[in-house]
Amino acid sequence: MTIGQIRVIGMTEYTVVHDAAQLVRNRDGGLDTVSDGAVAVEDGHVAAAGPTDDVVREYPPENAAAAVDADGKTVLPGFVDPHTHAVFAGDRADEFTAKLRGKTYQEIAAAGGGILRTVSAVREASRETLVGNLLSHLDEMLAHGTTTAEVKSGYGLRVDSETKLLEAIREADERHPIDLVPTFMGAHSVPDGWETDDYVDHVIAEQLPPIADAGLAEFCDVFCEAGVFSVEQSRRVLAAGREHGLTPKIHAEEFERIGGAELAAELGAASADHLLQATAEDAEALADADVVPVLLPGTAFALDADYADPEQFAAAGAEVAIATDFNPNCFSQSMEFAVDLACHGMRMEPGSALRAATVGAAAAIDRTDSLGRLREGDPGDLVIADVPDYEHVPYNFGVSTVETVLKAGEVVYDAG
Ligand code: NIG
Ligand code: FE
Repeated sequence: MTIGQIRVIGMTEYTVVHDAAQLVRNRDGGLDTVSDGAVAVEDGHVAAAGPTDDVVREYPPENAAAAVDADGKTVLPGFVDPHTHAVFAGDRADEFTAKLRGKTYQEIAAAGGGILRTVSAVREASRETLVGNLLSHLDEMLAHGTTTAEVKSGYGLRVDSETKLLEAIREADERHPIDLVPTFMGAHSVPDGWETDDYVDHVIAEQLPPIADAGLAEFCDVFCEAGVFSVEQSRRVLAAGREHGLTPKIHAEEFERIGGAELAAELGAASADHLLQATAEDAEALADADVVPVLLPGTAFALDADYADPEQFAAAGAEVAIATDFNPNCFSQSMEFAVDLACHGMRMEPGSALRAATVGAAAAIDRTDSLGRLREGDPGDLVIADVPDYEHVPYNFGVSTVETVLKAGEVVYDAG
């Protein structure tokens, strides 16, 4: 930088958020709060996070490229949403009404609705349409505090349309502040006219190799469920994914308990998700194998099903995650709402729910080393909530408490 004619060597630009009523960090074993806290971000990474007095001594607001006065507010790590199906075309609002009239998810799917209906819409949509849809959903996610999100394919079920979805994710990642983590989910449903075993062969032989070779996905997921993919079929898909360098994830024990959690433990998956029917034994197996249980309270809410029991997983020693599961059947982009439901529906305490939306969620996408903690050197991804402490985030449900979001130290959302 140049001041007058003198070039000042060694002076870098930084952003500082200061005077927050409460700063929430995460440390081993739990939430760690600092009253009157501040965070300085330099070169996109946290340079200091602690008491305002200490931080501003080294990073004075008056010399900052950007300074945000968070007086009376709470600063939290950006939310990580580790399970979404956020790239699709169309919606299924009429199925929502049908559900309210008593139809089940399976009845709707059997009548031509559900995943396969979205597959038809996606096959007809252009990549530009999919990118545009995804970008507008990402705007909504950002406004509710999400700074990193996993996004699955799985509404293509053919190599061309699965590729189109994953390319749309890659393009949206380049164009939007939210960092996206792509997951290949060719085994999301069985397309019309296929035997399940033949379709599994097709996913493994025709979809997986070109998609993995093109570097379009980091994880491989499968809908392991009665009437969809069996444990054996899921094992084949995930093992093949791993051979191609994709880390396994699994939709497990959602409607029926068929052994998906055990399979996740056996394979050392990054996460096992849904788990509405999982038992204490499953929870133990996941915790022992370091598989992150990802609980999706919005899905249970949308299906009017019983919530998963977070206590069961915490008691087993697992680091629990929560996610939105945003998809046409669970139409909420908001991690704030997932946190609200984790408390009001699943009876998690606010601190546990917020930890699950940050550190736990980061673990579910193998980002334990960087996201969710606000240690020095971590990405400068921050949420400023207009509440005096973190408890008020889920306490004040049904509205957004998120006022400002910073990604790598840059203000990328401001409610104004
Ligand atoms: O995670 N369970 C399978 N897949 C999605 C639902 C996708 C859809 O209905 O479009 C889920 O809930
Ligand atoms: Fe899902």
